Amino acid sequence: MRKKIIAGNWKMNKSLEEGMGLVSEISNMLKDEYKGSAQALIIPPFIHLNAISKLIADNPKLGLGAQNCSNHKSGAYTGEVSVDMLKSCGCSYVIIGHSERREYFNEHNAWLAQKVDAALAANLSPIYCCGETLTEREENKHFEVLEKQISEGLFHLDKIQIQQVVIAYEPVWAIGTGKTASTAQAQEIHAFIRSLLANKYSPEIAQEITIQYGGSVKPENAAELFAAADIDGALVGGAALQSRSFVEIVKAMA
Ligand code: PGA
Repeated sequence: MRKKIIAGNWKMNKSLEEGMGLVSEISNMLKDEYKGSAQALIIPPFIHLNAISKLIADNPKLGLGAQNCSNHKSGAYTGEVSVDMLKSCGCSYVIIGHSERREYFNEHNAWLAQKVDAALAANLSPIYCCGETLTEREENKHFEVLEKQISEGLFHLDKIQIQQVVIAYEPVWAIGTGKTASTAQAQEIHAFIRSLLANKYSPEIAQEITIQYGGSVKPENAAELFAAADIDGALVGGAALQSRSFVEIVKAMA
């Protein structure tokens, strides 16, 4: 059965002290209040990873991920962080190709495919992000855009490797805007992504792959989104910056 994963992407927010406080609250609340089977991931800035990894070590409901990684293994790449470094700081996951990286840092599919390879080689699970802009949706190009992002970023992987990948569908027009895709819109795309995986690999493999939705997920809309057949969790931005709202989203997943 595929995993259900709720990931809190803090982006460039929280000092170390604020972050440690937030994680302690989340950890205590989940221990007391959550009996479900979803895994909650904390995805803080790189510089907090090591400290947070120690803080969550005794809570099996919590895991750790990074927001980005280098496509290179090591060497003279000033300012970059390698997958082996992430692994050594306790990460199990790494976000690859978030729309903010694609847009502001010109990360394109071929480069992202290299990052996916680097992550898998270090035994980290990539959370590979895809999603269309508002213009692409209005021009009815969203299926085409998603197919390109998924095939160019992931379809060089073999049948074993693809099962280590989590896919996050994040329509760019819904990120940080307060506008969530309707459950029907999200489910339509998730089913489409799963059909791409089924055609490339097999229907059985497609059923094993976790597909998260991201874009203004909140406690108020999480339960409805998670009830959809192909939505296996969420990549949460703004609502992950407060313990109560993040925990309520986790609790919306049975
Ligand atoms: P948001 O961000 O929840 O603030 O819309 C989601 C994301 O960028 O992953």
